[in-house]
Amino acid sequence: MNRKIILDCDPGHDDAFAILLAGQKRYFDLLLITTESGNQTVEKTTQNAINLVEFLKIDVPITMGENHPLVRDKILCPEIHGESGLDGFEFPKYSRKCDSTNGVQAMIETLLTNDKVTVVTTGAMTNLALAIKNCPDILNHIEEIIFMGGSTSDGNITPAAEFNILCDPDASNIVLSCGRPIRMIGLNITRRVLVTKDVISRISEINNKASKMFVDLMTVFNANQAKTFGLLEGGPLHDPVTIASMIDDNLITWKEMNVSVELSKGPLYAKTYCKNKKSHNCYVAVDIDVNRFWDIIEEGVRYYFE
Ligand code: RIB
Ligand code: CA
Repeated sequence: MNRKIILDCDPGHDDAFAILLAGQKRYFDLLLITTESGNQTVEKTTQNAINLVEFLKIDVPITMGENHPLVRDKILCPEIHGESGLDGFEFPKYSRKCDSTNGVQAMIETLLTNDKVTVVTTGAMTNLALAIKNCPDILNHIEEIIFMGGSTSDGNITPAAEFNILCDPDASNIVLSCGRPIRMIGLNITRRVLVTKDVISRISEINNKASKMFVDLMTVFNANQAKTFGLLEGGPLHDPVTIASMIDDNLITWKEMNVSVELSKGPLYAKTYCKNKKSHNCYVAVDIDVNRFWDIIEEGVRYYFE
């Protein structure tokens, strides 16, 4: 039985390959994609999600989620993802519009009509937090939550804060205290999967439409990562690690920890405290099989347009 997934994302160059992996019908029943602001405005991340699923011929509803965090001001990340949020690849002009502009309600309805759903978030957790607050009964339909965010070490936007958590720390705390099994994949792991020149040439040799998209998008992604963060070897392909961890149960080594988010404004704002405590609320990723990850990416790119 294929695992049911709702993917909540802010595409975004790395989110794009979380969508690519999640769209493989041989592994998953991708029930819904919801979007939020983060890498770009929610209008742009939604258009990017539509372009991606149309281009990859993935049959999934796309619904526009929240454009604003619960409490703090909105932040965007054009310096990495560009003006469109997915700079570097020209998609055909698709006439499709999003299936709903109320992503939170779509998430609630999809969960209430399905059981044992894995909710994967690769952006701010605003949509999921609002869905839980508005309809706590959905928790009975969530098998587990997997999120890309936080770090057991330092952040990327500030020394303490990782971008997804920083976008909406209040929402992150609501999700972390919801009581369902949660898996956290932080920068301490995703900084190990860099899109190096060897990775780009390996994927380029597949020579299909999906590999061309990968190469074009990653060329821009890497240039922006080098300019913004000084990452000269290649940018970290953060988000697909979430889905890859579902394709291969042995990809990630997990450690039960107690995770909470700093909400007080100051140098530690939005830091994820990952503590070895009996009262754990989260399985935290502490190691990854990097070679296996790139095998999963290659296999995923080959899957499309075979
Ligand atoms: O910090 C990395 C995260 O922020 C990734 O999800 C990336 O897409 C951006 O949203
Ligand atoms: Ca993202």
